[in-house]
Amino acid sequence: MIKKCLFPAAGYGTRFLPATKATPKEMLPVLTKPLIQYGVEEAISAGCDTMAIVTGRGKRAIEDHFDISYELEHQIRNTPKEYFLHEIRSVINSCQFTYTRQNEMKGLGHAILTGEALIGNEPFAVILADDLCDNGDGESVLKQMVEVYERYSCSVVALQEVPKEETSKYGIIEGKLIDQSDDIYRVSSMVEKPDMDEAPSNLAIIGRYILDPEIFDAIRETKPGRGGEIQITDALMELAKKGRVIGYKFKGKRFDCGSVEGFVEATNWFYEKSAK
Ligand code: UTP
Repeated sequence: MIKKCLFPAAGYGTRFLPATKATPKEMLPVLTKPLIQYGVEEAISAGCDTMAIVTGRGKRAIEDHFDISYELEHQIRNTPKEYFLHEIRSVINSCQFTYTRQNEMKGLGHAILTGEALIGNEPFAVILADDLCDNGDGESVLKQMVEVYERYSCSVVALQEVPKEETSKYGIIEGKLIDQSDDIYRVSSMVEKPDMDEAPSNLAIIGRYILDPEIFDAIRETKPGRGGEIQITDALMELAKKGRVIGYKFKGKRFDCGSVEGFVEATNWFYEKSAK
């Protein structure tokens, strides 16, 4: 039912300068695989067949990564090294890629609205590739969310409990637990990056969403908020007021690869996993 996955990937990645000066943050590798490829594989595992990527200036490496490199293919054909291309080839063959550019960095909400031309009028998934998720042999986080969407037919946000002193880094929800065994909340309100004593809970929204196309109108009506950016949290708030947002505390691990600390943690985690 959810066929398209949107990847807002236009941000500057300033926390990773100088690495991100000429290389997109989404192309930084955890082991041998760029962050965005983990995201695309997760979307494929959830049943998506179209990857809609919102890029910006200096992000051409993303398009090249998901394309055939004829020269390289030719060089290593029928050699033992050909094996190293199998994984990315299978990704390229499993879905199609569409692209658009966000010309001005006006925030995540604005990046998602920029993707409207690629999505059209249907529910869609959103993955922020710098939030790297892993659920071992279990269902991927996005797959779990698609199942929640199929039950409730409205927008779904992924939730993670965070320490109180970290609420100022996230969008934080206020909501009512409506299914205890599956950790599902009906979201009534949300605040972008609240201080610890103003946070309505310690349930943070992380970089996985299933959005109903009604979000596009909500974003259009959203005024720039914190930092002059159009926040997706503010647009979702409008849908939450109508009871149209579900929060889901997913099963699995999530690494904040937008920060150096989270990136190192993810690298260690995937290295240990690969060594098993
Ligand atoms: P972040 O704020 O974490 O990413 O945005 P950033 O701006 O690239 O990183 P720093 O803070 O400068 O280090 C979350 C996600 O939203 C995308 C980013 O690419 C990232 O995946 N984004 C953000 C956009 O696509 N456009 C924007 O205008 C803002």
